[in-house]
Amino acid sequence: MKPASRKSITHDKKLFLLEQLAGKIRLDSFSCPIAEYNEYLLNEAVRSQNDRMALTWLFRERSTGAIAAYMSLIADAIKLSVTEKELHNLDYPFKTIPAMKIAKLAVSASFQEKYRGIGSLMIEMAAHIAEACNEHYFACRFVTVDADIEHNESVMEFYRKNGFVPNDEMNNKRRKVVSMRKDIIVQD
Ligand SMILES: CC(C)(COP(=O)(O)OP(=O)(O)OC[C@H]1O[C@@H](n2cnc3c(N)ncnc32)[C@H](O)[C@@H]1OP(=O)(O)O)[C@@H](O)C(=O)NCCC(=O)NCCS
Repeated sequence: MKPASRKSITHDKKLFLLEQLAGKIRLDSFSCPIAEYNEYLLNEAVRSQNDRMALTWLFRERSTGAIAAYMSLIADAIKLSVTEKELHNLDYPFKTIPAMKIAKLAVSASFQEKYRGIGSLMIEMAAHIAEACNEHYFACRFVTVDADIEHNESVMEFYRKNGFVPNDEMNNKRRKVVSMRKDIIVQD
């Protein structure tokens, strides 16, 4: 249950820092209602990072070190339909378009009770990371996500509110996840 009096994280975001997962950080304090997301952070995130399969970022409270949220990011490439390419002004013959995927995203229940907007802030920070790739390393046009409707059936609404739309090309009817994308370039 989320209290109506929750503060916006934007007022307190300086009390937190975003840092990459590292061996010395204790992960067992994190807890969200979906067990799979707790288990991933505790048991799989370090291995995935060492194997260059997913890089995990932790949003931690400076004063306590507690993990308020985490996200795992991976390189991605998405197919777009002809209509979608037109929508994004992408007149290229390539089969796929470069992207970065938020492979995991979860907010700790205790911090979610205190603050609204942590999930949205994580998406904003993911978009900044994608922008940094564009400025310094390689091109990335979209931030993508497989919205996990199996575990959180209304979660597409959260992503919609954060500028994501479902992908025509990558979705079918029997689905546990819905592939969604957010354009890095804001169209006029
Ligand atoms: C989904 C999750 C990341 C959202 O984080 P959050 O900090 O609660 O989200 P925010 O406070 O930034 O919410 C932004 C908006 O989305 C809405 N929203 C958030 N989660 C939602 C959901 N599951 N269904 C519908 N709307 C949702 C909020 O009400 C808010 O709307 P508003 O701006 O109109 O007030 C978080 O609930 C979570 O970690 N869930 C468990 C793991 C999970 O499902 N991860 C996503 C897997 S793809």
